[in-house]
Amino acid sequence: MTTSTLTQIESDLQTLQQEAEEAIATVGDLDELDKLRVSFLGKKGKLSQILRGMGKLSAEERPKVGAVANQVKEGLQGQLEGKLNELQQAKIAAQLKAETLDVTMPGVGRPLGHKHPLQSAIDRVLDIFVGLGYTVAEGPQVESDYYNFEALNTPPDHPARDMQDTFYLPGDRLLRTHTSSVQIRHMENNEPPIRIVAPGRVYRRDTVDATHSAVFHQIEILAIDKKINFGDLKGTLKAFFQELMGEDTDVLLRASYFPFTEPSAEFDVKWRGKWLEMGGCGMVDPNVLKAVGYDPEVYSGFAAGFGAERIAMVLHKLDDIRHLYNSDMRFLSQF
Ligand code: DAH
Repeated sequence: MTTSTLTQIESDLQTLQQEAEEAIATVGDLDELDKLRVSFLGKKGKLSQILRGMGKLSAEERPKVGAVANQVKEGLQGQLEGKLNELQQAKIAAQLKAETLDVTMPGVGRPLGHKHPLQSAIDRVLDIFVGLGYTVAEGPQVESDYYNFEALNTPPDHPARDMQDTFYLPGDRLLRTHTSSVQIRHMENNEPPIRIVAPGRVYRRDTVDATHSAVFHQIEILAIDKKINFGDLKGTLKAFFQELMGEDTDVLLRASYFPFTEPSAEFDVKWRGKWLEMGGCGMVDPNVLKAVGYDPEVYSGFAAGFGAERIAMVLHKLDDIRHLYNSDMRFLSQF
């Protein structure tokens, strides 16, 4: 009886081999290939099913069939592996092709940032003063009463303190109300001659509106030397504003009062036919020179301070200071 079983198994193995070879040859993707492997060679696969019939074979026949079965199995394993390699290579090749970078394609535009209009106004001012021989100086925004007021000839009960409503901090500290404090800090550490331009952020208890902000920026200048006079002050302001705003710009000084200058003035700038209030200035008060250890009999000097926002607003014809703080790209991208 076993002879026919033997031939049956052998022919089944042959059929299986053919069927599997055809299937492997035509499969086109890795998942399908794995399903084929399982269905032919897996534990419950077709090969195992055929070999279950071996139980009916005689002891001499079994090894024969076993050898054939092994041959078929190894052959198929080899083909599966070959196909696996082939499909993996094809997958990589397809991926590479899909990811090819076409360097001739138009790029994505990434807009370059640029300076904020307030900063560029400050930088222009600094450039002009540096051109006139000034050095840029800076000081802290959190100040002591001494640097912000006292050394600037403004003692505690001085009425001029009301001119600048101050944010006080715990201890003897405050947010500086003007950049004039930098004058004192610089003179304390340097000997005349002095020419500095000091830009910086200042703070006042102001209600915010189109022309006021509780936080804003000032630019301060200070010149100390032997024989500096009021004419030097006016000449410097005029040279500066003509450089900033054009040759036909004029400067007018109006008598005023500041504790740290004597005489003091406010200055207006005539630009395009209109007079614009710009800032304060004056000859440095002898008490200020004394506070930093300079001899007022030997040295004199002038100082001036003005708002940076004001400059930016005039140059760019802005009607509201708040535009400069809102970070609105529709506004900022115009500059
Ligand atoms: N510090 C003054 C203010 O904030 C402005 C000022 C006036 C500065 C006269 C000066 C000056 O240097 O001489 O209102």
